[in-house]
Amino acid sequence: MSLILGIESTCDETAAAVVRDGREVLSNVVATQYDLHAKFRGVVPEIASRAHIENILPVLQEAMGRAGVTARELDAVAIAHRPGLIGSLLIGVTAAKTLAWSWGKPLIAIDHIQAHLYSGVLGTAEIPQPTAEAPFAGAVFSGGHTALYRLNSWTDITLLGGTIDDALGEAYDKVAAMLGLPFPGGPHLARLAEVGNPTRHAFPRSLFERESLDMSLSGLKTAVLYTALGKKGLERKASDLTETEKADVAASFQAACLDVLEEKLRRLLKQTRSKTLLLGGGVSSNTALRVRLEKLPARVILPQKEYCTDNAAMSAGLAHLHYVAGNFAPLTLDAVTSSSIPLAP
Ligand code: KG4
Ligand code: ZN
Repeated sequence: MSLILGIESTCDETAAAVVRDGREVLSNVVATQYDLHAKFRGVVPEIASRAHIENILPVLQEAMGRAGVTARELDAVAIAHRPGLIGSLLIGVTAAKTLAWSWGKPLIAIDHIQAHLYSGVLGTAEIPQPTAEAPFAGAVFSGGHTALYRLNSWTDITLLGGTIDDALGEAYDKVAAMLGLPFPGGPHLARLAEVGNPTRHAFPRSLFERESLDMSLSGLKTAVLYTALGKKGLERKASDLTETEKADVAASFQAACLDVLEEKLRRLLKQTRSKTLLLGGGVSSNTALRVRLEKLPARVILPQKEYCTDNAAMSAGLAHLHYVAGNFAPLTLDAVTSSSIPLAP
């Protein structure tokens, strides 16, 4: 049994959550900063850090209040201390260390990417266990990451491949910006794609050599730019395009992304000999992607929509496994910009 407070501040969401036994979410509070970054069409690190400072205490109070628990009842405080923006990470790490020290609770250090992989377990009946003999395959598709993993256990994870340039969510956001959609554009672009013709434009699909798990999305992005707005993206403006033209570009872009993702996930399942695929990250809420996943020869464990984008429940959930194993962090814990997951040898 465990009752854990999780804290998340890796990028531009300030979040706190209370989770029981790694699965039962008692509260999940997320303060987004979309409005602050919208005019820059991307996350500005300095603005993100300042917003975390303003949001962290109200978010913590709300998470504890909604869960209806007192500090005394908690078993541990978990913090996503890597990877992320250093200024953002430091706010959450400082808050978590302060609470753990003043409440006399153990501190648990969480890798945000591992938490995304775990997010599909939240709200389910039991925690599935990968083993070296029956490993899980994992994929994180977010604004900052597009990566494929093998999990021999929830802590023994290796990176097998991923994007060599833009992340998937980043490509969605950039194509959305080309079409004049609001930031962050991923969900808007996905909605527009639903009413467009996915075969109208034959955008490139970079698959690399037969076994490769690498991906590249920057060439696709440039092809979309030239098609939508003309050479170098300078011949037309988004406002010159009709709604049908925009929808066809969105649908054709999404079709190219999904073809690449489906092929890479098939290769990943084959290479890891896995029958279970864990998916996480903001783009995993994409409906068309979820439909594609049904074609894969695997049980796919998908997060509920509120646990796809950055949240603290996934960290508090994963922390249960660390708690049971007695894997606690010292109060000297640092914020680290890179993930702890090693590249496969
Ligand atoms: O996991 P997340 O909240 O942040 C990172 O850790 O990066 O992911 C945010 C990303 C954004 O790029 C957003 O546009 C994208 O996920 N996203 C989507 C959808 N919902 C969110 N992209 C495509 N389709 C969606 N439905
Ligand atoms: Zn994330």
